[in-house]
Amino acid sequence: MLKEVVEKLNIKPNGTYVDGTLGGGGHAEAILKKLGPAGKLIGIDTDRDALTAAKSRLANYSNIEYIHDNFRNIKKILTAPVAGLLLDLGVSSYQIDEASRGFSLQHDGPLDMRLDQSEPLTAATVVNAYPKEKLVKIFKEWGEERFSNRVARAIITARQSKRISSTLDLKTLIEKAIPTWKKRESVTRIFQALRIAVNEELASLEKVLADAIDVFNPGGRLVILAYHSLEDRLVKQTLRQAKADGKIVILTKKPLTAKLEEIDLNPRARSAKLRAGEKV
Ligand SMILES: C[S@@+](CC[C@H](N)C(=O)[O-])C[C@H]1O[C@@H](n2cnc3c(N)ncnc32)[C@H](O)[C@@H]1O
Repeated sequence: MLKEVVEKLNIKPNGTYVDGTLGGGGHAEAILKKLGPAGKLIGIDTDRDALTAAKSRLANYSNIEYIHDNFRNIKKILTAPVAGLLLDLGVSSYQIDEASRGFSLQHDGPLDMRLDQSEPLTAATVVNAYPKEKLVKIFKEWGEERFSNRVARAIITARQSKRISSTLDLKTLIEKAIPTWKKRESVTRIFQALRIAVNEELASLEKVLADAIDVFNPGGRLVILAYHSLEDRLVKQTLRQAKADGKIVILTKKPLTAKLEEIDLNPRARSAKLRAGEKV
């Protein structure tokens, strides 16, 4: 949703903008194209591989600063107010397609799922060391999976004889534990829940949402793309509360969604919801 993001950010050529989820640099490039020589982009990502990819793609631009950090630290990262912040949440297609990162449902890889590979907690630790009740809670709250109990029980049984170490091991185990034909959906939900747990994704989102408005100049814009209902709910509620407190105006009465042509090219866009607000 490149066009919609750029439109909602309402980019002023001299402004300073933040891409809090730089990824491969696609949105960043669209923003940089709108900036003049006095404008600046600060690109943040928690994944060093993403920063390397973005640096290579954006090698021709000098008015971008790269920062390896978590966007939840936005207040510490920024030293002066900015004109806009973009958050394109979740994982990139690179991260999903790279089997060694452990996010993929298609390719077998280690149970990793860390966005920041310098962090110690991996999905393998969660799956092999957490007690059953904690696993059930993670699967219920962050996967909204109705068979959470069954899956947690199957994990506990399996790990007693052998460490669960690959994405394929886990996928097979979940599929066996689910008594319905909707096995694929359950695998997706359990993987999502683990990813959220490993990266503390909702806590990071809550923190950046709480702090974002303070980092803007008046008129500063917050644009967020969310890909699942837990994220989108948090974004919606925070924007509504900020509006009720008189801090922002909401620019998207209803969330914007991707057009069919974009979904054809990029199936991940199917679940994207864009919401935006402007600081008063
Ligand atoms: C959907 S991708 C962004 C794609 C990017 N907009 C582009 O056009 O290429 C999300 C990126 O955000 C990063 N990310 C996710 N959570 C983060 C966080 N809390 N702090 C910083 N980066 C984060 C991921 O590592 C990933 O590279």
